[in-house]
Amino acid sequence: MRTTAAVLWEPGGKWEIEEVELDSPHAGEVMVELTASGLCHSDEHLVTGDLPAVLPMVGGHEGAGRVIEVGPGVTDLEVGDPVVMTFLPACGRCQYCAQGVPNLCNDGYAATLGPQLDGTYRFRARGEEIGQMCLLGTFAEHTVVPVKSVVKIDEGFPLDLAALVGCGVTTGFGSAVRSAELRTGDTAVVVGVGGIGANAVQGARAAGCRYVVAVDPVEYKRERATELGATHVAASVDEAWEIVSGVTRGQMGDAAILCTGVARGADMQSLLQLVGKRGRVVVTALANAEEDTAALSLLDLTLYEKQIRGALFGSSAAQHDIPRLLEMHNLGQLKLRELITKEYSLDQVNEGYEDMRAGRNIRGLIRYR
Ligand SMILES: NC(=O)c1ccc[n+]([C@@H]2O[C@H](COP(=O)([O-])OP(=O)(O)OC[C@H]3O[C@@H](n4cnc5c(N)ncnc54)[C@H](O)[C@@H]3O)[C@@H](O)[C@H]2O)c1
Ligand SMILES: [Zn+2]
Ligand SMILES: [Zn+2]
Repeated sequence: MRTTAAVLWEPGGKWEIEEVELDSPHAGEVMVELTASGLCHSDEHLVTGDLPAVLPMVGGHEGAGRVIEVGPGVTDLEVGDPVVMTFLPACGRCQYCAQGVPNLCNDGYAATLGPQLDGTYRFRARGEEIGQMCLLGTFAEHTVVPVKSVVKIDEGFPLDLAALVGCGVTTGFGSAVRSAELRTGDTAVVVGVGGIGANAVQGARAAGCRYVVAVDPVEYKRERATELGATHVAASVDEAWEIVSGVTRGQMGDAAILCTGVARGADMQSLLQLVGKRGRVVVTALANAEEDTAALSLLDLTLYEKQIRGALFGSSAAQHDIPRLLEMHNLGQLKLRELITKEYSLDQVNEGYEDMRAGRNIRGLIRYR
């Protein structure tokens, strides 16, 4: 079939709206008609080149919609099913899935390579085969994705809100609850309040933290962070240090979660100083792939048992966590509508990213229908 997609043809380029050819699903795949897609910063890393990827690629990895065609061998999904697409697949059979860490599924290797898991492409335009960001490509009216990347959700849940749970909500919430292992009474610092950090704030509050300090240089972000549950806000990490030091009487935080647009090694020591004994610095933000130097006190790690942890998809188990997060929303325990600052049409995708860069959005959302 023919559909419309936003394609990145070269690093540093703009998203170009294309009429594209889309193949039917192969074995183990489904075609999805998108309702909405979030504008996550990770697609921006394709544009800046921070994240090495094989181009051209249909962007987008945070979406929801309805199944409109099922490929051979697909037995657990039907035409009409409402689904969230997850930015990492989970096969359910590799050692990591079996161990209960499906965010580290061996099939995740394919996320930025372009083709589907069987090595072939679904999208074509200008005589070229086009890859799919994270096997998804949610910047398209329709896409074909692996069943391994799909979570079926309850009929009736608003699909525009469900889209956000495909990456940002689950990544941020999980970074606080799972990766940082925050507990009742803890003190958490969330550095960067975009689509990810906003949900780390919500996760920290849901975990029962007594103090949640949200850090962002943009005043609008700090105001939203307060509405989402931050007890304190700061414009910089230094300002956050003063607050945390004061409220904890020098004991410092239990975790600091890095959710800025780009992670930088030079900032690690100031993040480590936000946490106390046994405190965790959780690195959720992506750094440039070539950045391999970080400034930090190794003695702090030893003497205070501080830890630095990476967090992929918030260490979440999508098939388990996504239905729970949606139900928490139904129960009034998780804000989703409030995360959407502005809606765009697909052909406004570059405008959406311009707003993200300017710090105007918690999350921008492309609405298809
Ligand atoms: N680990 C994962 O699984 C995963 C998943 C999704 C996204 N990410 C990454 O998470 C990061 C955040 O994504 P997002 O979509 O929320 O981005 P975003 O651009 O929406 O938000 C980033 C926020 O950081 C703030 N910021 C920038 N510099 C800062 C600083 N020095 N101190 C404090 N705040 C600062 C910005 O003002 C902005 O509010 C990106 O690097 C993204 O690629 C990681
Ligand atoms: Zn994302
Ligand atoms: Zn697996």
